[in-house]
Parts: sequence; C-alpha cells; structure tokens
Amino acid sequence: MVRAWFVSLVLAALTGPWARCAEPTFTRHVVVSQEGNASDVGREALRHGGNAIDAAVATAFALAVTLPEAGNLGGGGFIVAFDARSGKVATLDFRETAPAVSSPRMYLGDDGGPKPRFRAGAWAAGTPGTVRGLAMAHARLGKRPWAELVLPAEKLAREGFEISDDLARSLNRQLAPGAADSKKGGTRDDFGRLADFPSSRAAFSRPDNAPWKAGDRLIQADLGRTLERIAAHGGDEFYTGQTARLIASYMKKEGGFVTLADLKGYEAKMRPSVHTTYRGHEVHGVGPVSSGGVVICQALNILEGFDLKADGPTAPRTLHRVAEAMRRAFFTRAMILGDPDFVTIPTDELVSKPYARKLAASIGDRATRSQDLAPFKVLPAEGDHTTHFSVLDSEGNAVSMTYTLEEPYGARCVVDGAGFLLNNEMGDFNVVPGRTDVTGQIGTAANQIAPGKRMLSSQSPTLVIKDGRARIVTGSPGGRTIPNTTLWVLLNVLEFGMDARKAVDSPRTHHQWFPDRLSLEGRSWPAATLDALAAMGHETRFVAHQGTANTIVISPDGRVIEGAADHRREPARASGD
Ligand code: DON
Repeated sequence: MVRAWFVSLVLAALTGPWARCAEPTFTRHVVVSQEGNASDVGREALRHGGNAIDAAVATAFALAVTLPEAGNLGGGGFIVAFDARSGKVATLDFRETAPAVSSPRMYLGDDGGPKPRFRAGAWAAGTPGTVRGLAMAHARLGKRPWAELVLPAEKLAREGFEISDDLARSLNRQLAPGAADSKKGGTRDDFGRLADFPSSRAAFSRPDNAPWKAGDRLIQADLGRTLERIAAHGGDEFYTGQTARLIASYMKKEGGFVTLADLKGYEAKMRPSVHTTYRGHEVHGVGPVSSGGVVICQALNILEGFDLKADGPTAPRTLHRVAEAMRRAFFTRAMILGDPDFVTIPTDELVSKPYARKLAASIGDRATRSQDLAPFKVLPAEGDHTTHFSVLDSEGNAVSMTYTLEEPYGARCVVDGAGFLLNNEMGDFNVVPGRTDVTGQIGTAANQIAPGKRMLSSQSPTLVIKDGRARIVTGSPGGRTIPNTTLWVLLNVLEFGMDARKAVDSPRTHHQWFPDRLSLEGRSWPAATLDALAAMGHETRFVAHQGTANTIVISPDGRVIEGAADHRREPARASGD
C-alpha cells in the first residue's frame, strides 16, 4: 500500500498530477470511458453476449445521461470499428449537418464579425447525428436487441445516479445565479450557461435549488422518457416521432433553424477509414469531414522518417520534430479539409508516404515559421468537452468512438420536454467567410456553411491493427488538440515502447500551425529543454492538461488487455473482465 502510494507520487512528479499506478489488466473484454457508470453499462452489454458495437451503443447512451457535458443525444461524432473475423475496419460518420435554411453568412453581425452570442441557444445547433449513428452502427454490426442497449441509460435517467465531484462542480458553475436571461437580452459577458435557459435550469438544478455536491442523485425524468421512446421505437423515433416534434417546436419557439424536414432527412454515413502504416502497424482513423485521421496519418508518416526512439520522447529534438510534423499536418487541415460531399479532397495523396517525405524534407534544425507555410492564421486550441471511449470484446472486435456537443453542454439549452441538450456545432464552420486574420479567424472556402453540409471536425477515434489483431484503441476530446493528443499516445506505444498507463500519463504537446506556438502540458519540463526549444525558435507555453485519452492497448499475442482510463478528468474508469 505504502509502496503503491510512493510510486504514484514519483509518477506524478515525473508526469502530471493525474498519473496513476498501473491498473488491473483484463483478459476478456473492456470498456474505457470518461464516466464509471457508463463503463459499467458497456461491460454489462459485453457480459450478456454483446459485441464491441453493442457495448459502444450502450455506453454512448449511458454517457448521454451521466456525462451531460459531452455525452449526448443532441450532438454527433464518429466511430472506427474493427471486425476481427473479416479483419475489416469500418468508420461511421454521424457528424451534425447545417439545417436547410443555412447560408455562409448566417452568423454575421452588422459589424461583419460573428453575431454576439451566436454560440449558445437553439440557433447554434446543427441537425443532430448521434442517434442515427448509433442506430446504424447497431443495425449493421450489432448483435443484441436494440432496446436492451438503450434501457440501462433510461434507468440511469429515470432512477438517477450519484454524481461525481467533477459533475457537481461543473453543474454548480453552470447554474450559479446571476445569469442574464436570454429573453431579456442581458449583457453579461459569460452569457451561455445552463442558467440562461429555463429548460436547462429545470433539467439540471437540484430539486431544492441548492448547490450540488458529490454523491447527490441527479434524476432526468424527461430524458428518461425520451430514451424509453427510442428504446421502444428505434432510432427513427428521434428523427420522425414525438422527439422530432419536440425538437422542431423548441426550435420554432427559440429561433433555431432545425426543422422536421431536416431531422427526417438526416443521414449517418459509412465511409472507408483513412489509414497508413507506422513501423509495420496499420493505423486507421476517420477521414473528412473529420481532420483527425488525415492529421494523425500525415504526422506519423512524416515522423517515421526520423529515429525518435534514439533521442527519447522528451528530448528537445523529438519535441521539435513532433511539433514540425504537427505544424505541417495542421497546415494541410486548414487549407484543404471540409465535408467530402461538398469539396474535393485528395485524401489518399495527403496520407501517402511520398507526400510525407516531401514535407519531412523541409524540417530542419530550427522551427519553421508558420507564416512561411502560408499567410494565414487559424483558431486557437479549444477546451476539453468532447468525450472519447474505447471498447474491446472477447472476440477481438474493437470500437473507438468520439462524440460531442462541441462546447461543454453544447448550446447549453435543453429541448423542452425532451430532456437533452442541443449541440452548438455550427460554430465549427468558418463562420466569417473570407476572413482569415490575426485574431485567429479562418475563412477558407472548404469549411464554409452550406445547407446540409457537415462542419469540419478534429475528432480522432483511432485503431491500430497488427497481424490481424487490434493493438491500440484510442482517441480524445480537446478540440484541435485531439489529433495531437492521439498522436502522442500512438508514438508512446509504437515508437517508445511504453505500456498503456505510461503512454496515457506522459505529458503531451500541441502545435496547430497558428497560433505559431508550441503548447507543453504540465510543468515538469526541465529548464534545459525549454532553453533548447527557444534556441531552435519555438515559442512555448504551458497548459495544465491536454485531452483525455481513454485508451486500450492489447499485447501483441492478444492475451493481456490494458485499459488505461485517463485520469486527467475524473471519474474515468476501465470496466472489464
Ligand atoms: O468536432 C470537433 O472537432 C469539435 N467540435 C470538438 C470539440 C471539443 O473537443 C471540445 N472539447 N473537448
């Protein structure tokens, strides 16, 4: 006990305060998600004979109840799934779409900039994709009856669950009095909390309106009824049934844009994975409209040409090379990527080895100035409020899934009578067309708003396959930091030979082309490293933490399954057998 305590102290000093001793490993199956009740729901699905997709569907519905900040019915996301029997990888895109009335300049104010408050309220929402995505995943790849996978979430909503300290604090911040009422046009700068929307106050306040504390029970009766309808009538209910009518009438009342026709017409899409190889391992991610797969594959291809292992993961030269690979991959992202149904994207070329060799040849001993790649600036890093989970079943099938409402609690407004939050994903489009400026706006054409179009994403659910077996299942929240967090987990295992716990706990870095600076996670960086980076021309800054990569690493013989919950955000948990 004392030894374990000491080891975790040393680990925390070396990495970050989140570092943990090794957790138990598993031999059959595991679900690693950001919230313990949801991981347990997924594990129960596996114990009842469900496969990895069944467990992912059950976990996702449970997270929509127990992690309201990011788990969702009203948002969207991506799945990468590995079928062990056929050896095939499928990806599923259930990203939100722009409603039919959308236009490129719909969020512009009189001054030509974004309208104030365009990021909160019904009008910030795209047509949600999550429920269609989960239904499609289940119909194509699941085994257990649909209702069996939805009802555990319904029970958590109806009977309530004990909330964590993390959720208590977060809800208290969102609900504290003093918020401007959206209807009265208050002027508070932090407009856009749950407190600003009566339906959200009703859904998330403690019954006596006192502040929440850890261990209190959160009951979400309306959400429970919505889940009951979805369990009984299938995913379609959300798009054409009573839930669709509740969404459409809320939109009408609150000035939102999503109509019954938008909901009815929403399609989830199966797409080929974006893939490359890294030192003999197959790496699969999601392609456009997420940038995740392209950024990760391009960066890995660039880095494969260097011997990073010889220097070690925290050597200044490694940090420099990784930063330069990130810089170039994010340049690609900003210039070219958008919805592949609307813009032509040469994905195969972008993740090819010859393309990477050309990019790698331009990396020298000093930092490239981002400005020298192109005269553009892009948005700064976002917060940490998407959620990623990883699943492996006893037959070796794997699911990597990331989904989001975009910002914490999305548009912060709950659909009246339906009990779930809407996304504010429309803000992921380039909302000021043509303006790419020093404040971090990007206005390139590929990601401008159009009816029915999907907004560019950074979500990066990723699978690594070796010799026909899943080897790593990973991904993360964190806006633009997502591909880079995922890249570090992959490098830590594949290049530096770390186990899952160390690969997840080790400090991460981030460069996204613009702003032209390198973020370093935590404060454990030696002065000599910082000096060396400065001498190479890197501007650095510290961030407290980067991402939450709930990861599975499977030993090459398939016998040992490490489920590494990322303890940067509690209450993450690996539940398995
Ligand atoms: O899809 C995207 O890339 C963003 N909407 C994700 C937002 C996010 O990760 C926020 N924080 N974790």
